[in-house]
Amino acid sequence: MKIITHPDHIQSWCLEQRCSGARLALVPTMGFFHEGHLSLMRWARERADLLVVSLFVNPTQFGPREDLKRYPRAPERDAELAGEVGADVLFMPQAEEMFPEGHATWVEVPQLSRGLCAVNRPEHFRGVATVVTKLFTLTMPTLAVFGEKDWQQLAVIRRITRDLHLPVKIHGRPTVRESDGLAMSSRNVHLSDQERAQAATIHRGLRHVADLVASGETDSSFLLSALGEMYAQEMPLGRVEYLAMVDPDQLYPVEEVGDSILLAVAVRFSNARLIDNILISAKK
Ligand code: PAF
Repeated sequence: MKIITHPDHIQSWCLEQRCSGARLALVPTMGFFHEGHLSLMRWARERADLLVVSLFVNPTQFGPREDLKRYPRAPERDAELAGEVGADVLFMPQAEEMFPEGHATWVEVPQLSRGLCAVNRPEHFRGVATVVTKLFTLTMPTLAVFGEKDWQQLAVIRRITRDLHLPVKIHGRPTVRESDGLAMSSRNVHLSDQERAQAATIHRGLRHVADLVASGETDSSFLLSALGEMYAQEMPLGRVEYLAMVDPDQLYPVEEVGDSILLAVAVRFSNARLIDNILISAKK
């Protein structure tokens, strides 16, 4: 596996490969790989001639009081793992190369960047949208793969791709979970043992709401307060940041569960903010 650190170099390498007819898959990441990342890479590897993995802890998607400095990093281990799953190139740029002095262009999707995670992370999606667009123009992938845990991010990226006519097919892949249901996340390492045990309630709660819907309950405010109560009782160390039932594509709040809704949550523990979601349908 090649390691490339300069944006110009990855761009010329990818251009050469595309010109010679190769299909390129891109898996953008911020590193500290877990099975969630590796499953995206394996999936992408099977669908393209070459797999490019990017590893960049993008400072522009962190707010001033967020965990940029504490974000877990293990670049050597990540490089080994990416090589093992068959990545052809690992692109690991420096922040100064991706956002050099004078950088002044931003990609924004305001309609999809207001509710849910954006309420407490107002600049986050602008940072994600911009860096992902840059990664697309640098690597020119045929397809790119993202985890569905970051559902809002995926919605933003799909929108950009359509609106800017970017010639890349976006694939969302299901969240990979620990055996007790906790969504895998690089940030899980920041949970204390007690918090880790309680964090399994996040997914259990989502499943509980899906069961209530299956038994005929469709009123969002009832379902959300049932979920809030469950979290308050079984997860006292977590502070719920939001619980929301929204349209899966447009992300606007939905009052009744219909064909398909997204139930999304964010929970803060002392040193980690975790998100999760589930798609629920009231249709039998
Ligand atoms: O999901 C992530 O890890 C990041 O938000 C991404 C897509 C790599 C952009 O920095």
